[in-house]
Amino acid sequence: MIYLLQHTPKQMEMPPRPSLLDFHGVSMTKYFIDNWDNVQNFKARPDDILIATYPKAGTTWVCYILDLLYFGQTCPERQASVPLHERVPFLEITIPSQPAGTDLADQLPTTPRLIKTHLPVQFIPKSFWEQNCRVIYVARNAKDNAVSYFHFGRMNNVQPEPGDWSTFLQNFMEGKMVFGSWYDHVNGWWEKKQTYSKLHYMFYEDLIEDTGREIDRLCYFVGLSPSAEEKERVTTGTKFDNMKQDKMANYSTVPVMNHKVSPFMRKGKVGDWKNHFTVAQNGEFDEDYRQKMKNPSLRFRTEV
Ligand code: A3P
Repeated sequence: MIYLLQHTPKQMEMPPRPSLLDFHGVSMTKYFIDNWDNVQNFKARPDDILIATYPKAGTTWVCYILDLLYFGQTCPERQASVPLHERVPFLEITIPSQPAGTDLADQLPTTPRLIKTHLPVQFIPKSFWEQNCRVIYVARNAKDNAVSYFHFGRMNNVQPEPGDWSTFLQNFMEGKMVFGSWYDHVNGWWEKKQTYSKLHYMFYEDLIEDTGREIDRLCYFVGLSPSAEEKERVTTGTKFDNMKQDKMANYSTVPVMNHKVSPFMRKGKVGDWKNHFTVAQNGEFDEDYRQKMKNPSLRFRTEV
């Protein structure tokens, strides 16, 4: 039973830090491609909800919001005992001695199934499109996304060594990141939205600015109408400080992460990039950004 899949550090040998591989033109690591046939052949169901993001864009936040909206009232014991990453499986992940994301998704007892992915749009298993599934894409401004990814690389053993901040930032600009270029990712999904109507594209900065409004939009998209009381419960439960304390949501049960190096629930803010970028780095980044982000309809905010 999926509820029993609890993992403690003692049960697992620490996997080695992976190196980046070129996978059909996208930088990846073995932990996200070793199960590729099963990922590509994954059988989506029409009511599955796919939550897609570039890593560190607010995936966990949106997964938790949706999980609470759907199951917060009907399965409270599940909230208290099953880590979020098992309630919302990570489709493409495959780490030694852990169940593969596809298996966790296949075993999910819920309807709908909430499934998370970081894949760029061209890698999404075709059954999601064939089944006309609802897809939620969360995007975050490049600067804060890069900072968050840097700290994640420091604390997560299944990420490549991030190096120092300036090396990491250079690699970010060159797309030498797990799941490839941020620029390609956010643009690829934005283009998909123009032709696939069941795609809700949302922004981390909007969530920070007005969580209630964004929850309303999410509910409208998925067809839920929670009571005011229920919505309040979800908004409160998914506040940064509450999630940080919640062992089922803060990844403290995940053995490959070292929260002493940097907690998974780190800052949860817009604008932390200002504490990391030097003036020179910011100038170079902005110039490079202008070259890569030509679509005027896709706009990010680096301040709220
Ligand atoms: P920071 O590292 O900037 O703090 P993901 O879930 O995609 O890995 O994204 C993680 C980022 O989202 C982290 O950003 C984390 O703190 C932030 N985050 C998670 N839950 C949040 C919440 N409830 N409110 C604000 N930010 C949140």
